[in-house]
Amino acid sequence: MAVKISFKLNGEDVSINIDDHVTLLDMLRDNFELFGAKEGCGYGECGSCTVLVDNVAVNSCLMMAPAANGRSVVTIEGLSGPRGELDPLQKAFVEKGAVQCGFCTPGMIMSAKALLIEKPCPTEEEIRKGMAGNLCRCTGYSKIVDAVKEASERGCACGKGS
Ligand code: FES
Ligand code: FES
Repeated sequence: MAVKISFKLNGEDVSINIDDHVTLLDMLRDNFELFGAKEGCGYGECGSCTVLVDNVAVNSCLMMAPAANGRSVVTIEGLSGPRGELDPLQKAFVEKGAVQCGFCTPGMIMSAKALLIEKPCPTEEEIRKGMAGNLCRCTGYSKIVDAVKEASERGCACGKGS
């Protein structure tokens, strides 16, 4: 059954009629052509589909699209600035070599974003814990942790960053 939902998507108000059995991930990709969030496992194990819903990291493969009604959804496409400037996390991932094949990267960055929103100056242990739901088959994780640490130190008020 199709239902009409309205929500904020990457800062813009949107409305759509969507079948109630469609996942948030499929709606983002198929109806809004936002291809950053990826379907890896499709059942909540890999984190490649992670987006922010009301600033909390969510596996969009597990959330049904109608549940987005009235909420704010941010995808990796919503992180860059109006002129395409990269978010500090995106910059740090590039600079630290935390991107290889890139399949996990949007989900990793969105989980890191949620972590830094909640905890701007996380310890390494907190970063590893915060990213535990995101799997990467390429990087061995160290560079990803370094990138999140770098972004947090640049952006937070802990005095460690430049
Ligand atoms: S595709 Fe959603 S957790 Fe793997
Ligand atoms: S960079 Fe390839 S899966 Fe993480």
